[in-house]
Amino acid sequence: MTADSAPPPKDGGRRPQLETARLILRPVQEGDAERIQELASAREVAATTLRIPHPYPADGGIEFVKMCLSLDPARGECPFAIVPRGSEGLIGLCGLEPEFTHRQSEMGYWIGVPYWGQGYATEAAAALLRFAFLDLDLHRVHAAYFSNNPASGRVMEKLGMRFEGIYREHILKYGEFLDLHVYAILRREWQERTRGNLE
Ligand SMILES: CC(C)(COP(=O)(O)OP(=O)(O)OC[C@H]1O[C@@H](n2cnc3c(N)ncnc32)[C@H](O)[C@@H]1OP(=O)(O)O)[C@@H](O)C(=O)NCCC(=O)NCCS
Repeated sequence: MTADSAPPPKDGGRRPQLETARLILRPVQEGDAERIQELASAREVAATTLRIPHPYPADGGIEFVKMCLSLDPARGECPFAIVPRGSEGLIGLCGLEPEFTHRQSEMGYWIGVPYWGQGYATEAAAALLRFAFLDLDLHRVHAAYFSNNPASGRVMEKLGMRFEGIYREHILKYGEFLDLHVYAILRREWQERTRGNLE
């Protein structure tokens, strides 16, 4: 059995917490459902994401939290709640989907509409990259955005991710075919940018 196919331990043991100048990123936990329900229900958030339905189901927040609690935070599988320092409530979520066989992961993020345009997505995703390369020892992190979402493309550029190509009309969203723009960053590129200590 490979590490990837091994079932995650029930108690992940270590619950990683990532910190930035303004934010705490902690694994999603019980108590987050209501806030996720509130922020993920916005059409603007669903419009540029693959997996958030709109209208958001009435039990969407509860079901999402249940799913998160079945994952192993120490393996980077559990989404992180993005919480501003000094506050209790999350303002968005971000996370990885590691494939340890290839030491790579997809990265995703969303921020509640009232908190857009304040650099939070970039700050949270930068911490996630650090976690991916330093804690999970990954080699590559990729992400993708729909053609109707240049703000997310800008986030990827600000993180030093490189444009790799476009999957043409790959996504059908609200009756419209959208291009998918693919970006990625390799460990050595991240290291050069951050001069991160990989020891
Ligand atoms: C995309 C999203 C994550 C951005 O979050 P955010 O916290 O506002 O992002 P930041 O403030 O860190 O950075 C946004 C950047 O995009 C820029 N931007 C905003 N609107 C833009 C537009 N229409 N065209 C180009 N750039 C735009 C901002 O100016 C900023 O860049 P700057 O710092 O150089 O000025 C947020 O809008 C969101 O959650 N959207 C819905 C879900 C989603 O799309 N998730 C990502 C899926 S790939």
